[in-house]
This record gives sequence, structure tokens and C-alpha cells, in this order.
Amino acid sequence: MENKIKVSIIGGSGYVGGEALRLLLAHPFVEVVQVTSESNIGKFVHIVHPNLRKKTKMKFTSINDLQKVDVMLLGLPHKVSSEKIESLSEYADKIIDKGGDFRLNTIEDYKKWYNYDHPNPEFLDKFVYGIPELHREEIKNAKYVAAAGCNATATILGLYPLYKNNLIEHGKTVVEVKGGSSEGGNKPSLGSHHPERKDVLRSYKPTGHRHMAEALQELKTDTIHFSATSTDLVRGILATSHVFLKEPLEDKDIWKIYRQEYSDEPFIRIVKERHGVYRYPEPKILAGSNYCDVGFEKDPHSNRVVIMSAIDNLMKGAAGQAIQCMNIMCGFDEETGLEFPGLHPI
Ligand SMILES: NC(=O)c1ccc[n+]([C@@H]2O[C@H](COP(=O)([O-])OP(=O)(O)OC[C@H]3O[C@@H](n4cnc5c(N)ncnc54)[C@H](OP(=O)(O)O)[C@@H]3O)[C@@H](O)[C@H]2O)c1
Repeated sequence: MENKIKVSIIGGSGYVGGEALRLLLAHPFVEVVQVTSESNIGKFVHIVHPNLRKKTKMKFTSINDLQKVDVMLLGLPHKVSSEKIESLSEYADKIIDKGGDFRLNTIEDYKKWYNYDHPNPEFLDKFVYGIPELHREEIKNAKYVAAAGCNATATILGLYPLYKNNLIEHGKTVVEVKGGSSEGGNKPSLGSHHPERKDVLRSYKPTGHRHMAEALQELKTDTIHFSATSTDLVRGILATSHVFLKEPLEDKDIWKIYRQEYSDEPFIRIVKERHGVYRYPEPKILAGSNYCDVGFEKDPHSNRVVIMSAIDNLMKGAAGQAIQCMNIMCGFDEETGLEFPGLHPI
């Protein structure tokens, strides 16, 4: 127990907070000391997160009642983290924010994509963008990490090897992201009400999705055409990206590029089988795991490549990625507490 770090989860009644708690209760080097929720103060956490029954006897506390910890995980709605960051930072040596308030580098980008005047812009420089596969060395030494958006994570990890190697025709990339309902958090709305949501395949953001700003920033480009569609899944994201190659490359060349970038990455699997049902990435079998599965296929009749990348939005798209970042920041093995491979069949 003495060697364990103390961690608190702020916004712990939410879907991301609950997933972080599930993972951290099993983490060998972590003691969770506080889980906050303003609407459930004093209630056992298992009342809200029934999967954690008999795993902990903790009760929710208020954000106004914080203790000093080594690491604080924020699972708060947009704008709340950025408004509270100064006071929160007094209670933690390291902070990992799961929300979008510190992911973009400039106040101009917040104005453009969120139509929002950032209340604490001096913190933007202090946060490192939290995709370990792109920023591992910076995350190692970071005090503050802004874990990436879920749709952004799937998109960026799918496209990164081709963008990094400058192989893509500028301005022609089209990304279609299909996501599950838990992306929207646990507050009910008409759109999430069962009769309105069940069996849905609904265009959610055909243009102007905020996560696009992260993809542009991280892939160092100024144009990607991005659409988001809501599906009947509870967990899961599949990003299908269409890119056009500058030079003739075949599947085997593209394999080499992806292998070079990702073969040492513990949470990225290249999925491209000749036979069987599971020839390409599929979010269903990733539920509860921290993997991002990436596959691709070159169109034999054109210079188009289709890249498929799948994640669990609450894991590699949220709590799992945040804990991967925490492990790196604290010098733990990166995979600690994230070993669950998912279920099959499910
Ligand atoms: N869901 C996903 O797949 C996903 C993926 C990546 C990133 N994210 C981001 O992660 C964050 C959390 O998402 P979520 O899906 O877990 O949302 P959620 O289910 O709505 O949970 C939000 C949490 O914040 C607390 N909260 C709300 N307003 C508050 C306030 N003013 N002060 C203190 N606490 C407050 C809520 O509890 P009380 O209302 O009881 O206080 C709850 O615990 C969001 O920024 C979201 O964009 C979500």
C-alpha cells in the first residue's frame, strides 16, 4: 500500500469516470482515494456503477471537498475543467483531463471550433496532447495531459503513419466515423431516449465536428473532410478513412509503413486477414479493451486507400488511454491495469 500512488476521479459518476474507476480498482500501483459527483454525494459508487458492487465500498464525495493526491483524473463536461483548473491543480501533482478543454494548442482554435473564449489560456501550453503513440516522450515528463477525444483517437491512429510519411494527396481525405451512444455521456436526452435511439443509424455531425480540430493539429494538415454518424452500439467507434496516395504504393508497401510505425506499440494491432469474418477492425470485439485495431486496403483500380480503425470509446477513446498516459507519467509499465483483451463472442 505504501508504494501506491493516490488517485482521485473527478466526475466519477459519469461513464468515463466509472470506467476509470473500474480500471484503477484493479491497478496494482494505485489507491483510489476519492470519487466525486455533485448529484450523488454520500451514495455508494456501486449504486451508480453496478458492475463495481463488491469491488469497493467507496462513496461519492463533492468536488468542494478534495484531498491532496498524486494524480487527478478529470471526467467533467466541456467548460467545467477549464473553469476549475486553477483550484483543482492545487490538489494534485499531475492531472489528466478526459475532456476537450486543453486538447487544442491555441485560443484561436477554441474560438473557431468550440465558439468559446477559453477562460484559462495560460494552461494550454502546460498540457501535452494525450495520445502516447504520438507523444510518449513528452507525456513521460508532463505534469498535465489532455487525453485525446474518442473520434479523434480513432481517426488519428488510423491516418498517422501515412501522414507522417507525407504520402497523402493534400485536401482529399474523407473520414466517416460511426460511434455508439455512450459517447454522449450519462445525461439522458431526447436523442438518447430508447424509442428514439434504438436501431439508429443517424447522421450526427456531417460537417464541423470538434474532434476534427484535433486531427488537423496532430496530423499537421489544414483540411480533412469528416462526418460522424450515431449507431445502435453502446460502446465502440469505427473510423473509415479514404485517402489518395501521391505515389503508387501497393498493399505490401503500406503494410511495411504501418508495421514500421506500430509493431512495437502495445495497444495497436494491424488487422488485415485474407480469410474469415474478422478480416478488418471491428469495434464490437474491442469492448472493455484498450486496443486500437487498424486495417487498410488499397483500391486496385485507383490511388485510393481505405483505412479502418476501431476502438472502444470509453477505453482507448477515454479512460483506458488516460490510464495509459498515467502509467507513462508515473514510470509504470504502460500496460499495467490495461491487460483485458475484450470478449468473444459478445
Ligand atoms: N463518453 C465518451 O465516450 C467520452 C470519450 C472521450 C472523452 N469524453 C469526455 O470525457 C468527459 C466526461 O464524459 P462522460 O461521458 O463521462 O460524461 P458524463 O457521463 O456526463 O459524466 C460527467 C461527470 O461530470 C460530473 N459533473 C457535471 N457537471 C459538473 C460540475 N459543474 N461540477 C462538478 N462535476 C460535474 C457529473 O456528475 P454530477 O452531475 O453528479 O456532478 C459526472 O460525474 C467529457 O468532457 C467528455 O467529452 C467522453
